[in-house]
Amino acid sequence: IPVDPFDYVVFGATGDLSQRKLIPALFHRFIDQQFDTNSRIIGVSRSEMTDEEFQAFAIASVRQFVDATLINEEQLHEFASIFTYITNDVTDKDGWAELDNSLRDDPEVVRAFYLAVAPFLFEPICDYLATRNYWTPDARVVLEKPLGRDLESSIDINDTVGKVFREDQVYRIDHYLGKETVQNLLALRFANALFEPIWNSAHIDHVQITVAESVGSGGRSYYEKSGALRDMVQNHLLQLLCLVAMEPPASDEANALRDEKLKVLRALKPIVGDAVEKLTVRGQYRGVSSEETKVPGYLEELGDGVSSNTETFVAIKAEVENWRWNGVPFYLRTGKRMATRASEIVIQFREIPHSIFSRSEGVPKANRLVLRLQPDEGVKMFLMIKDPGPGGMRLRQVPLNLSFADTFVQRTPEAYERLLMDVVRGNQTLFMRRDELEAAWRWIDPIREAWDNDTSQLHGYTAGTWGPTASIALIERDGRTWHEEADDPKGL
Ligand code: BG6
Repeated sequence: IPVDPFDYVVFGATGDLSQRKLIPALFHRFIDQQFDTNSRIIGVSRSEMTDEEFQAFAIASVRQFVDATLINEEQLHEFASIFTYITNDVTDKDGWAELDNSLRDDPEVVRAFYLAVAPFLFEPICDYLATRNYWTPDARVVLEKPLGRDLESSIDINDTVGKVFREDQVYRIDHYLGKETVQNLLALRFANALFEPIWNSAHIDHVQITVAESVGSGGRSYYEKSGALRDMVQNHLLQLLCLVAMEPPASDEANALRDEKLKVLRALKPIVGDAVEKLTVRGQYRGVSSEETKVPGYLEELGDGVSSNTETFVAIKAEVENWRWNGVPFYLRTGKRMATRASEIVIQFREIPHSIFSRSEGVPKANRLVLRLQPDEGVKMFLMIKDPGPGGMRLRQVPLNLSFADTFVQRTPEAYERLLMDVVRGNQTLFMRRDELEAAWRWIDPIREAWDNDTSQLHGYTAGTWGPTASIALIERDGRTWHEEADDPKGL
């Protein structure tokens, strides 16, 4: 369904995010005919560039990041023609006139300001948006992370933006919420009658959330200042935890859903004092240098002689202190340079209360539901069945496998495709509200502080592995294990 015509003003338009994610996502929506022909994308950045150069930048970005079989030259040039460019140093008061002239004063056209820039630029940008007539009651602002380094700085950012935009005009991106399989979690939980009655501590033993990346940090200075706790746990992993743990909202209307997520964040048991060392593990990858493989370690990527206590791996045992989840641990882990790229949510059910089978027939294993977020998106339900054959009863665990690639012919859209269009549609359901963001920081801050005060517990792990052994110990101490591909036989 086409969205209303828009003027998308992208600050930081020539940056990495724009090139890798925003422009390719817009292209996909364009070729799916979701744009009104009267829509425009206005890039704003400090670099000197003409409209034509910016259009060439957009074309190059599509060529690099979109599957070539989807590109039709005529469409690509038509797409590029809606791009215009303004050179503007936002900290310079005189640079704004061109944007003044460029925006259309038409109530039918949705005005969205996308701030793909460092947060210290939010203030000058918002101040200017407020003083010119760019700000209209229906205008929207989109904020990219990092939205603060801690609770205090996130409050500052929210105050700055809040001086100009009402909360219902603010779209805080957590791109994990735009991922297909993450949205599928909502469908799975709330469009099936099967799961909700058993979605609680009476039937669920524990939950695992893993977001493993095989890439390294790339020596980015942003990452060095952030680390995995701020970069991944504060936002993506906690949002996933919220979607698993929240109560059923009355509808999928933005605030109904966000109210429920907020309650989960507020119910997270604080990890403070001695508990930090017991319930958290942090690590940093070390390089591998063998004949077959050569992978630099985190420190080598930073450069010669640099020392750093930045964590590239985190594992946490979290608890949601409420009636539904009492005593059910949520094991979270994320890291760079892990064995493979794999993000998944594992719901481990409890064991059956009594087996009618003899030990020689097999010991029934507890059911396990695995939601695979990426790659190979899908849902697997591990069940016990009888091994086929005439030899009598033999129990075996096999997955009931719903692979998206095998089931659907459609391409799985990228997260930003959905999110960018939701901004135009005015749908905030998949964006973080201010109170959610702040509640997440409130839980993260004491962990961060304890880590900063004691850097001795940063474990090294070899690039290409599943992280420090301390992370295995974190879950095995409780008599449980991380879900691995090996638990996942390919079926009958
Ligand atoms: C970003 C982090 O938010 O998410 C990156 O800043 C990380 O460090 C990325 O690599 C992972 O996203 P995805 O969609 O590739 O899983």
